[in-house]
Amino acid sequence: MQKIGVMFVCLGNICRSPLAEAIFADQVQRHGLDHRFDIASSGTANYHVGEQPDPRTIDVARRNSVPIDHHGQQLDQVHFHEYDYIITMDRSNLTNAERIAPQEHSATMVMMRDFDPSEPGSDVVDPWYGDRQGFDECFDVLERSCANFLEHLKSEHSL
Ligand code: 4NP
Repeated sequence: MQKIGVMFVCLGNICRSPLAEAIFADQVQRHGLDHRFDIASSGTANYHVGEQPDPRTIDVARRNSVPIDHHGQQLDQVHFHEYDYIITMDRSNLTNAERIAPQEHSATMVMMRDFDPSEPGSDVVDPWYGDRQGFDECFDVLERSCANFLEHLKSEHSL
């Protein structure tokens, strides 16, 4: 059976999208659905290609017992053929991703917080310039949005 490909996208691929990837992968694993998913993350910029997530990203994941292991990569045209869902962390990176997208592709592009029942359609605020509290808030938003996204996929794909 073909896997469902999910690519989370932010700007630098060291804070929000690797955290979303780790949280979503953990939730998928808890539902016993790992074999049905191919999960990844990337940045629309190339500043941090090859780098591990920001230490504060690793710290908030560890404090919440979510395994995280990622090296930065930049969003590429080919990803739009390899992944079914391109989930951007905010509107500016949705615009960036639309610029990177090939003319023809069948990936669904949506914003992460389209799945947040408390503030649908808003941005996942970039915690890069903030402190530990910003990373905690980012974790909560992503945990809630990813859980809802997974429920959406379960009903969409009869999982
Ligand atoms: P991210 O956060 O997009 O959530 O990974 C950022 C990380 C680095 C930079 C900007 C945002 N930067 O300018 O280097």
